[in-house]
Amino acid sequence: MKIIKTNNYDELSKKGAELLIEEIKKVERPVIGLATGSTPEGLYNEIIKFHKKTKYSFKNVYSFNLDEYIGLAEDNENSYHYYMNEKLFNHIDIPLAQAYVPDGMAEDLKSECTRYEEAIKALGGIDIQLLGLGVNGHIGFNEPGTSFDSRTQIITLEKSTRNANAHFFSSGGEVPEKAISMGVQSIMDTKKIVLLVSGKNKAAALKRFLTEDVTEDFPATILHKHHDVTVIADKEALSELE
Ligand code: F6R
Repeated sequence: MKIIKTNNYDELSKKGAELLIEEIKKVERPVIGLATGSTPEGLYNEIIKFHKKTKYSFKNVYSFNLDEYIGLAEDNENSYHYYMNEKLFNHIDIPLAQAYVPDGMAEDLKSECTRYEEAIKALGGIDIQLLGLGVNGHIGFNEPGTSFDSRTQIITLEKSTRNANAHFFSSGGEVPEKAISMGVQSIMDTKKIVLLVSGKNKAAALKRFLTEDVTEDFPATILHKHHDVTVIADKEALSELE
């Protein structure tokens, strides 16, 4: 595992964008795995800046998001579909038909999970996966106790996760209790992983991740078994490790 230490969030975002762009340029039809939440927002801004400045085209890129809340439609401001459109897809030229996000409104949610896994497989798997770290160690929405064998599935969110994400719901509505998430095994199958960790509120989680043995009680620890993981962490996130 490679660890890149940055002085602050800006540097972390730039470094993350650099790694993602480098990978996209390497492959003819890149398949990228994307995350939502606070952490990748700066990285997405960097990608937009890069696209505007260089006119580099993302027309050949396919993307898969890690997760989506169940019961929130694409046009609901609190959905991850909406987040991705606002924070990235509307500002670059990736065709929306190539930008997959699980459908939290699907009538048959189980089939939706299978369809998602199959779509990833049909494109030959994910070349590079972006991840954030939950304070409870979740990756995607795979909460503590989730089986390491899991594939895209329906997850019941922990109260701590719903609380941590409540600030995104300022415009009204409660954080849903359930979500669709790529599973731990789906994440482990990706070819390259970039884990972004920023801020003091992640310091304890980052310490656990880097120092604990692999355990389903702290799902991120499984990443120690992946052959190509880069962690980008800023000073504040690293503050409990000095
Ligand atoms: C988001 C996701 C989550 C977040 C994690 C950290 O798609 O799958 O695992 O990456 O909850 O969230 P932030 O970045 O908001 O601290």
